[in-house]
Amino acid sequence: MIRRFDGDRPLFLLDTEHTSYAFRVLPTGHLEQLHYGPKLEAISAEELLSLTEKRTFQPGAVIGYDARHPTTVLEDMCLEFSAGGKGDVREPFLELVHHDGGRTSDFLFAGAEITDTKPPYATLPGSYDESGRVEHLTVRLRDAQYGEELELHYYVYPDCDVICRSAKLINLSRQSLEVDRLLSLQLDLPDSPWAVTCFHGAWVREMEKATLTLPAGRFVMESRMGCSSSRMNPFFMLHDPEATEDSGACYGFNLIYSGNHYETVEVGAFGKTRILSGVHPQGFRFLLQPGDSFEAPEAVMTYSAEGFGGQSRNMHRFVREHIVRGQWKHKPRPVLLNSWEASYFNFTERSLLSLAKSGKELGIELFVMDDGWFGERSDDTRSLGDWDVNLKKLPGGLAGLGKKLKELGLDFGVWVEPEMVNVRSKLFEAHPDWTMAIPGKPHSEGRTQRLLDLANPEVQDFIIEKMTEVFSSADISYVKWDFNRIFSDVYSPALPPEKQGETAHRYVLGLYRVMDELTRRFPHILFEGCASGGNRFDLGILAYFPQIWASDNTDAVSRVRIQEGYSYGYPLSTLGAHISACPNHQTLRSTPWDTRFNVAAFGVLGCELDLRDLSAEERKKLKSEIALYKNWREVFQYGDFYRGRSGNLHEWTSVSPDRRMAVGLLLQELTRANTQFERYFPKGLDGEKRYHFSNEEQRLNLKRFGSLVNTVVPFHVKQDSPVHNAIARAVTMPGETEDIKATGRTLMAGVKLKQAFSGTGYNEEVRYFVDFSSRLYFMLAEEE
Ligand code: GLA
Repeated sequence: MIRRFDGDRPLFLLDTEHTSYAFRVLPTGHLEQLHYGPKLEAISAEELLSLTEKRTFQPGAVIGYDARHPTTVLEDMCLEFSAGGKGDVREPFLELVHHDGGRTSDFLFAGAEITDTKPPYATLPGSYDESGRVEHLTVRLRDAQYGEELELHYYVYPDCDVICRSAKLINLSRQSLEVDRLLSLQLDLPDSPWAVTCFHGAWVREMEKATLTLPAGRFVMESRMGCSSSRMNPFFMLHDPEATEDSGACYGFNLIYSGNHYETVEVGAFGKTRILSGVHPQGFRFLLQPGDSFEAPEAVMTYSAEGFGGQSRNMHRFVREHIVRGQWKHKPRPVLLNSWEASYFNFTERSLLSLAKSGKELGIELFVMDDGWFGERSDDTRSLGDWDVNLKKLPGGLAGLGKKLKELGLDFGVWVEPEMVNVRSKLFEAHPDWTMAIPGKPHSEGRTQRLLDLANPEVQDFIIEKMTEVFSSADISYVKWDFNRIFSDVYSPALPPEKQGETAHRYVLGLYRVMDELTRRFPHILFEGCASGGNRFDLGILAYFPQIWASDNTDAVSRVRIQEGYSYGYPLSTLGAHISACPNHQTLRSTPWDTRFNVAAFGVLGCELDLRDLSAEERKKLKSEIALYKNWREVFQYGDFYRGRSGNLHEWTSVSPDRRMAVGLLLQELTRANTQFERYFPKGLDGEKRYHFSNEEQRLNLKRFGSLVNTVVPFHVKQDSPVHNAIARAVTMPGETEDIKATGRTLMAGVKLKQAFSGTGYNEEVRYFVDFSSRLYFMLAEEE
């Protein structure tokens, strides 16, 4: 609920179910932030005014706003936004260069409106609401000297304790105006130190978590790669340094944007903490003629007193309900088989169909043909841009392959990378001016490909029409949309020199137009975003594509960390996760089959390996695992997610909204000798309900015990010899089963698991739990 109180001047109180956000208009017309955190239940202006700082004298060596307000020292105030130049020497939210060259702005309160609708942006994706509960506050500010208008927008989503913000600048002056930055969110907190947790990384190493406590100065999180990037995700947390998964104050922030972004946390001279988030100002300059406006992307913030976990579940609900949209919003996502790691560029229609058939037998629902199907694409040096099917590989075209897949009972998905072009392509020959490049200057290379200039509407139209042709040329129900190089030599040949500071942002706006149009034209298609894995995993993409390929790294041990990283800000239904071959293609590590499945199951499950090469034992296993996943798919994809321990052990639980079903993961990175007893701590269960706690019965390959086979057979067996192999084919070892009936309360106290193998004996009562071992535990409530 949004309330306005009118004392001398307006005060605003924004309430969600468990949080409050309050600010007021100061006598000068600036906006003072009063509170963001636990719910206030305030009922009067007087009560809210108790949250203001009482100022009597101006301290030394600072600037007072003006002669009438000497104690208004903007540098030492919590502000809703700051333009700089009037004494606030901390980092600004807004930087304008006015027609006279002046860089000082002074936006003061001019009015406010509260409505219960959220209009869409003209150029950008945003959150949306179908529940009819969103409320919208617009605060209008006017520059006291130059007359431009700034709108601050607040959107309140009570159901998930989220408040979104965005800003719009309108040049109401009679001269042109240069916008050097317009960020999306500023939050000033009255104290410090806070801890910041960011999620950084690189290709195949996305979402590594790093935390620091900031006592002074500024900490920057950013992407200058053109995309939101694996280097630093726009999602971050600010929290009590002592916060845990389950307790302590924790704020989460994200940005609905897929380009260069910038987040900072700054502790000023007076110990206040400023958080900023928005489009990266470096390399950015937007020119506004009189009457023009510029809208900044929407930023998302949440607060939870229940630690990182509470924060995550708020964000998950928000992303599921107010970001992801379209037919696939709540639909179970299909189990897919992707051709990439099975075949790379080397395939024919026949080889694809035989791969697909082997998948169908195991329960696969959707077959995805990855890179390599168009133009002369036999490696990654050519043909991007030439989206005509390679008839040598696929004589019946996409339609022919799609039809044969349908006959097999599989849906058909296809890979595209529409934003890119190889110099070795017909498209580049025909339109060299359609790429992002500085005319006449050499261009730096990434994966031998270049970006098309999506700042150019003609290029946007080309992509829309060409992809429309591809997507309607066959019965296609899924598209993997890739993006495999970052920006360099940023320049749009379609823009004049003075507008080159707009290129990177206009690229992103162009991309949104293309995505918007294609998702409208093909509402039944399930789109999966991808950018060399997770190089563009953000809320802007998720506003069009319901899921994203989280990482090119399919190694289960790397993945448990990567997916855990994503889970802080993004729900499981957005994470593409595949089972792949071992040794793994990115790390050359070998992990047990179960662990590869168990980790990939916590997300949108797929397979990405040559299933024809599996042993009979592996095929049997995979078949039953896919069936199991389908039975529990709603819990894996849409459950409420809880993290437990993280480190050498990873402990996850996903719980159905009615808390009748829950599934847990316990994964061990490295084993420690002679540690037999371990507990698994589920979370989120209904304390009163009685659950049946169990795991799947397993049969272990005897060879996993190596030469210990000699302790049970009467003759000597050489390891890996034909005799060893023959015994392993005939005899499998039983695995332990857990079978407990108890209330949620008892289970959450820690389930004492069966004794782990410790070098002294093994039977079906012993838990085989070695390096990279894991278990899934299932909890099903008894009927009431
Ligand atoms: C990127 C993607 C991969 C695969 C290849 C194809 O690396 O992340 O999944 O699609 O491109 O070239």
